Amino acid sequence: VDLIVRPNGGNVSSPIMYGLMHEDINNSGDGGIYAELIRNRAFQSGDESRYPVTLDGWSPVEGAKLSLKKLSKPLSSALPYSMNVAVPSSKDKKARKVGFANDGYWGMDVRKQKYTGSFYVKGAYQGKSFTASLQSALTGEVFGTTEVPAKKKASNDWVKYDFNLTPFKAARNSNNTFAITFDAAGAKDGSLDFNLISLFPPTYKNRPNGLRVDLMEALAALKPKFLRFPGGNMLEGNTLPTWWKWNETIGDLKDRPGQSGVWGYPTTSGLGLVEYMQWADDLNLEPILAVWGGLALDGGELPESRIDEAVQSALDEMEFLTGDASTHWGGIRAKILGHKRPWKIRYVEIGNEDWLAGGAVGYENYKRYRFPAFFKAFQEKYPKVQLIASPSVFDNMTIPKPAAGDYHPYLTPDNMVKAFNKFDALSRDNLTLIGEAASTHPNGGIGWDGNLMPFPWWGGSVAEAIFLLGLERNGDKVIGTTYAPGLRNLNRWQWSMTQIQHAADPALTTLSTSYHVWKLLGETAITKTLPITAKAGGIDPLFYVAGETESGSNVFKAAVYNSTEPIAVSVQFAGLAGKVKQPAKKPATATLTVLTGPANPYGYNDPWKHNNVVKETKTKLKAKEGGTFSFTLPQLSVAVLETDSK
Ligand code: AHR
Repeated sequence: VDLIVRPNGGNVSSPIMYGLMHEDINNSGDGGIYAELIRNRAFQSGDESRYPVTLDGWSPVEGAKLSLKKLSKPLSSALPYSMNVAVPSSKDKKARKVGFANDGYWGMDVRKQKYTGSFYVKGAYQGKSFTASLQSALTGEVFGTTEVPAKKKASNDWVKYDFNLTPFKAARNSNNTFAITFDAAGAKDGSLDFNLISLFPPTYKNRPNGLRVDLMEALAALKPKFLRFPGGNMLEGNTLPTWWKWNETIGDLKDRPGQSGVWGYPTTSGLGLVEYMQWADDLNLEPILAVWGGLALDGGELPESRIDEAVQSALDEMEFLTGDASTHWGGIRAKILGHKRPWKIRYVEIGNEDWLAGGAVGYENYKRYRFPAFFKAFQEKYPKVQLIASPSVFDNMTIPKPAAGDYHPYLTPDNMVKAFNKFDALSRDNLTLIGEAASTHPNGGIGWDGNLMPFPWWGGSVAEAIFLLGLERNGDKVIGTTYAPGLRNLNRWQWSMTQIQHAADPALTTLSTSYHVWKLLGETAITKTLPITAKAGGIDPLFYVAGETESGSNVFKAAVYNSTEPIAVSVQFAGLAGKVKQPAKKPATATLTVLTGPANPYGYNDPWKHNNVVKETKTKLKAKEGGTFSFTLPQLSVAVLETDSK
């Protein structure tokens, strides 16, 4: 394949082409990026009829008896349940320290670093202190312990304790627990009540109530430009009353009731609206805020007479995030929560996949009154915000200008590759976000009637690369794109295909084959395309795009799919020709990065084998006359050629 890349005449690309999407699925929030180590820290269920309140995660220490209590004086109205810890009655045991332990999100990573904890206690206690400790669940070996002095308070008050704990020894594995014990004899009424028991390791950028360092670093390395949150299905709730109520995810943790979620487990709301915005701040990401559109996953929807309730909630959310301190919600943010500086919100998506959950009737209602109600309100109050409808033109929605749409291709690799051209015919008037995308099912299978693949696999990842090259060609019609879902806890998950796998043990953090592909393309995002003319050969089985990067370098990006033999590629950057004196004293140079995979296209990065089937090679190439670079790409490879000269 012999190609010339012209220096002018391309189209501009979206400045936020590659991004992230997050919702709490797969314990990717609680038990994932949200760094809290204590599972079921405040006995939240969200919706008790779906998830009964439990003592999951907790076990007694030294014969204490643990029970759930709904006290007449709870810690807060948001957290009505607490854990009663009764001391054993026998005299012998009364002389001891008793308490409880938590086994974390299926283990805890214990290192010689500062852990920050807190808990609330109610009851008459005359002991000197509480003991907080980290130990092996297997052998009981203690790695760190601290005494938290008891405060003298009326026994009917809830008292908050804060502490730091720095282990003197790192644990060999993550099979560890966190325990709080106290003098059994000091509990005058024979028991104490505990709630909101929390323990954090150091967090990304040391944020209190912050995010897990290794996962944030892995996400940062993707060089993302936007963050779409909080869903996904999570936004919608299973039933009408259980949508992601943003105003119940802000403020002190004791005022967050938690949510029932939609992925089979309740969530704490510790990763709330403000934490999402801080995540965006810390990685310098453009927030794409999804607001509830009045539809639940069971198809329940607000009738036309009540849609204003959802619209008002979205406007309040906008005011909370962007209003100054003189506004009602901006004032709550600035004066009560201490976030003086308003955030900027430039993108708002209305609902999630409204073409799907509500069936034909729900979709018609979205088009007829739900989306129009938001559209009108935002045009009046926030006309500069880029509104995004949750369906796209590809879902047969005529989207009123200047709103955009959202398209979610979860496809087989063959269909991903077929979609390379999909956006060529898109009109610039139909700006589209690809807010979720992944190769999910194998070719030739039964598609959605079958299971998702177990992990992103090399053949699927190369197909995603080709889809992405197609998007980059059309970066003037596309807001951006993101793999979804991003994260998966290996101990409890609902959706196997995720970019990164994780568990309590950071050694299990696994960057999938797709991670490597999206990273290579994301870190060489282009600001404009450069037109390509083919002197010989054309698209398929080599797929490609060329462009200029933020730093001014020229890039040629390509991927090979379904080729019976390696492809010899010659790329002439015509713009470089004038810059190279011929005969070349100092020829232009470029770096060729090639990702290749295993011989078996179904090969994947296995968290338990700690393997990486993706091989990256970097080669310095010198240009021949006229700025031409030559190289060969094998079947199932992804490559970026980046010039050193600008
Ligand atoms: O990414 C997993 C789910 O797939 C999302 O919650 C939903 O938007 C899509 O159907």
